[in-house]
Amino acid sequence: MLWLVRASLDDAEDVRSWRNDARTRSMSISTAFVEQDAHERWFRNALSDPRRALFIGVAAADGAKIGMCRFDLDADGAAAEVSINLNPAMRGKGWAKPLLREAAGYYLLDHAVRLKATVRRQNPAAIRCFLDCGFHLRAEDSEYFYFLLDPDLPAAEVKDSLCR
Ligand SMILES: CC(C)(COP(=O)(O)OP(=O)(O)OC[C@H]1O[C@@H](n2cnc3c(N)ncnc32)[C@H](O)[C@@H]1OP(=O)(O)O)[C@@H](O)C(=O)NCCC(=O)NCCS
Repeated sequence: MLWLVRASLDDAEDVRSWRNDARTRSMSISTAFVEQDAHERWFRNALSDPRRALFIGVAAADGAKIGMCRFDLDADGAAAEVSINLNPAMRGKGWAKPLLREAAGYYLLDHAVRLKATVRRQNPAAIRCFLDCGFHLRAEDSEYFYFLLDPDLPAAEVKDSLCR
């Protein structure tokens, strides 16, 4: 079981270290190492940006940080891009889908938007995670799969599909 909390400045260094993990970088759209100063500026802005929502998953049993899930609202406010990144120490333990389900379900409570995700083709764990959480493939190119949580479903059904 996990708890979902809003990210705070206390999470900045953890989020940076998860982001700089080699596998995370290789699976990210921007693969550059993130320096501390740049990260702190980005993180502070992200926390105060009304178009961004950052959640941290915490294991209920021992308080260990599981990872983060971020939602970036598009300019037109009709869709949000979802990004998930687990603490490397918590990967391979079945936490990814619960974190994505909880975070997406919570976000959709007050954002009536489509959810999108861009996943590298060579990222099978992420592909499985988004598909099992109700996303479907809407497009692909040589590098990425583009997933979407069904925009035609009313919010209640979307949440049901997330909770399968
Ligand atoms: C992607 C990520 C969130 C997945 O979390 P994880 O703990 O590593 O994933 P899991 O081990 O729970 O695997 C998820 C599913 O994929 C399956 N899977 C994992 N590796 C696989 C592989 N090489 N081939 C096929 N399936 C695989 C797992 O079996 C699991 O499915 P199941 O629950 O039906 O058994 C995590 O690896 C991560 O944070 N990666 C770096 C950031 C990233 O890639 N984010 C995605 C882009 S937004």
